[in-house]
Amino acid sequence: MKHTINAESPDSEKVDLSWLSNPPRHVAVIMDGNGRWATKRHLPRVMGHRAGAESVRRVVTASRQWNIPYLTLYAFSWENWTRPRLEVNALMALLEEFIDQEIQTMLNNSIRFSVVGARERLPESVFKKIRMAEDRTSACDRMVLTLALSYSGREEIVKAATAFARDVQKGILSPEDLSAERFSDYLDSRDLPPPDLLIRTSGEVRVSNFLLWQIAYTELHFTRTLWPDFSEEDYRRALMDYQERVRRFGRTGATPDEGAI
Ligand code: FPP
Repeated sequence: MKHTINAESPDSEKVDLSWLSNPPRHVAVIMDGNGRWATKRHLPRVMGHRAGAESVRRVVTASRQWNIPYLTLYAFSWENWTRPRLEVNALMALLEEFIDQEIQTMLNNSIRFSVVGARERLPESVFKKIRMAEDRTSACDRMVLTLALSYSGREEIVKAATAFARDVQKGILSPEDLSAERFSDYLDSRDLPPPDLLIRTSGEVRVSNFLLWQIAYTELHFTRTLWPDFSEEDYRRALMDYQERVRRFGRTGATPDEGAI
């Protein structure tokens, strides 16, 4: 179901937003570098994820304060299932803990919680907790926090193609009815606008199967900062960088009146 998000809250007057005249509507983040952060400190990798969860809190809080209506975080990829069982279990436990600890804050700040990805692969307790958080926050309308869990961009596209093929098989649609717009309606993320900005931390410069369909015209920002070190200032820098980009969406940049050839 499409929903309207009105990010501007009455308390937004208290925050100086003069630096953010052209905010992105949707920010997506590949939170990378938790393991390296921990290894550098001779700590178990799980401690890196725990520190990463603090960065999640920071970025969610800043997004809400800065009136960014959609924030999508890559918290666990389809490929992450191949990690050692202990690490996977620790990540699942962290997720449950995060939801338990943050549900009230989400409600207080009218943040709607949602998940994209193959949730049926998640442990039952996580699956249930997600559903509970989605249900309880379903009327929240200031911001949408989406976690990509057990997520693969290619799988999302394949699932959408299968669903479309079924509709054709049932005679509801014909193959010619398919357009890029209609196809988007079959994606898990159909309720989200495409990201305006994708941030990846830790110095890796790739998109790693994240929101492949949706990032066609997204601005990309890469930083060497490891995710647990990603501060409010780093986030602000990413948004400043975004604001300097000229987004043409394949056009020339000149309006037709200015004589574009
Ligand atoms: C990548 O770091 C990060 C992940 C695989 C998981 C992200 C999880 C969190 C930030 C914590 C829990 C999330 C929530 C929403 C509470 P990596 O392990 O690949 O790091 P490395 O590349 O340095 O090994």
